[in-house]
Amino acid sequence: MPDLVITNARLPRSEHLVSVAIEGGKIATPPAAGAAQPANVIDARGGLLTPALVEPHIHLDAVLTVGQPRHNLSGSLFEGIAIWGERVKDLTVDDVKRRVAQVLRWQVANGVLFVRSHVDVCDPKLTALRALLEVREEFADQITLQLVAFPQQGIQSFPDGEALMRRAVEMGADVVGGIPHFELTREYGEQSVKFAVALAHEFNKLVDIHCDETDDEHSRFLEVLAAETIRLNMQGRVTASHTTAMHSYNNAYAGRLIVNVARAGLHMVTNPLDNAVLQGRFDHYPIRRGHTRVKELLAAGVNVCLGHDSVMDPWYPLGKADPLQAAFTLAHYGQMSGFEEIRTLIDMITVNGARALGLRDYGLEPGCRADLVLFDAPSESDAIRLMAPRRLVIRAGKVVARTEPATSVVTWKGREEPVDFMPKRPS
Ligand code: FE2
Repeated sequence: MPDLVITNARLPRSEHLVSVAIEGGKIATPPAAGAAQPANVIDARGGLLTPALVEPHIHLDAVLTVGQPRHNLSGSLFEGIAIWGERVKDLTVDDVKRRVAQVLRWQVANGVLFVRSHVDVCDPKLTALRALLEVREEFADQITLQLVAFPQQGIQSFPDGEALMRRAVEMGADVVGGIPHFELTREYGEQSVKFAVALAHEFNKLVDIHCDETDDEHSRFLEVLAAETIRLNMQGRVTASHTTAMHSYNNAYAGRLIVNVARAGLHMVTNPLDNAVLQGRFDHYPIRRGHTRVKELLAAGVNVCLGHDSVMDPWYPLGKADPLQAAFTLAHYGQMSGFEEIRTLIDMITVNGARALGLRDYGLEPGCRADLVLFDAPSESDAIRLMAPRRLVIRAGKVVARTEPATSVVTWKGREEPVDFMPKRPS
């Protein structure tokens, strides 16, 4: 007998209402019609039920620092880096933990139960990493964290960069990062990618590189990452994040590169919120979107996921750690408004992210761990359109967050009428 059955749920890419059973914290086969039902039944009332959301790219160490010590007046990447350079001097383990603990709660309320966070390791004391390692353990029952050793100021271009990366991995980072387009020279950039993949190979870790996050069409480190991945047999263990320069490559080069990205089995993460505001800053009209080629990568069979990147930090002052905001933005910015494309946006914040993070027992099939989100909306399109509240968030079979949807009431010709923003069919 299951512990809990969720009835009248609509699963992704389906029109039908089904029941989902949970037993011992895992998805189970629902009881047959007419069989005894468990005492604990939740009526989803036609709401969309998905696996827990996955955040594949965020910088938790910088969250909630907007305005500290000053606001970014231009909104540019470079002013953001300068402000972070000032703020980072005040970083303490307690300061980082306090801010991160707040945002982790926001993520759980939004249905996010799996997070990959980049953590700046260009610091001889590795303060942010020490804080995040403690957070990863302290909140392990609430949310699963993967930590990337991220060299914000470069590996080859920062004093003792290689040694700091190695120390971060030895201390417990799960993933090796990089930022080749920010290194002092093209040669350093290549070297940093080769170093990162080799380090991950040596320690049996994953790789996630901030790669070609620039509008410079000559920034071509993704090809190096693909080649190193193939050479060291790391297919499926390597992610490239941002890759905004791909927007500006000539089509012949981009086409050849995408074939090699697919061959290397790279996962790709696009971050439409930050990159919508940070790219194209050196352009006069027309201003480029500065966004990677999501549709072409998906069409080539590449796993593409969607990240939030920043939450109220010097680079991006907005956000509430909700992947639906990133999905809504990509629907417009990446022109993914086709019927199937909108469904794909939900894949990009669930199953695709899970593949990049290498999650096991993830999904809706019997035997998977019961990590679920129930939206206050009947379809993928309505979930994104309304940025629908997450009515329930379930982790290992237990409800860990609830949201009561707000009710709007208009006074219309002297009568109060509720409005739920759903089209009403003629009766
Ligand atoms: Fe990033």
